[in-house]
Amino acid sequence: MGSSIVILTGAGISAESGVDTFRDKGGIWSRYDLREVATPEGFAANPALVHGFYNDRRSQLSQVEPNAAHYALAQLERQYRGQVLLITQNIDDLHERAGSHNLIYMHGELAKALCAHCGSRHEWREALSVDIPCPDCRTKGALRPDVVWFGEMPYHMERIYEALSACNLFLSIGTSGSVYPAAQFVEEAAVAGAHTVELNLEPSENVYNFDEAIHGPASKIVPAYVDRILSGQVNA
Ligand code: APR
Repeated sequence: MGSSIVILTGAGISAESGVDTFRDKGGIWSRYDLREVATPEGFAANPALVHGFYNDRRSQLSQVEPNAAHYALAQLERQYRGQVLLITQNIDDLHERAGSHNLIYMHGELAKALCAHCGSRHEWREALSVDIPCPDCRTKGALRPDVVWFGEMPYHMERIYEALSACNLFLSIGTSGSVYPAAQFVEEAAVAGAHTVELNLEPSENVYNFDEAIHGPASKIVPAYVDRILSGQVNA
């Protein structure tokens, strides 16, 4: 079987690019009530508040740049002899802008709008509001950020579990391991016999599920680990 690497990333990989994380001190969930801004119920109750929350984050996208960790993962995809699949919980576009292509956005994308009425999806970099009609069905008030809210199913789960069941190496980068199903992926990979590694600023909630843990800023530890893989020092 060819070698395959599956990588899961979370907000921590974008922290040094200036994108806020959720559960660090001063993080997003210390400033907003996630029930109000990241659930279908919250959107139904106050769509303007939810649009405002995502409009602020979407407008930030043009002010941040990928960092060395994003670029290292894109280099791994280009230069590794086997398959590399990158699964991100992040809704920013930094992996794509760094050059990653084999990429799954399991929590959706900030730069996309979804019409709750006709199901169409649209590249969307400006502000969203209830007054903007869907470009396809023209319905007003039906456009929402194409992001997965709490209580909704993450995207591409079938493809994700397939990849986890066949990988030799699983890397979890910049995630607190506190949100499921992503926090479970390390166990799926371990069952498949993969070597599992956590690369995070500090030990995550599920650090004990990993064979190996490397702690430090992603912009330092991720390029170093990618170099080790590409120079054949990691049995993958
Ligand atoms: N380098 C590496 N790791 C970092 C850095 C850094 N510079 N800065 C922070 N971290 C780590 C933190 O230690 C923490 O473990 O990144 C992790 C960020 O955790 P969270 O803020 O919980 O973000 P994440 O794990 O991606 O959250 C998962 O929860 O709110 C939902 O949908 C949202 O996708 C998100 C999901």
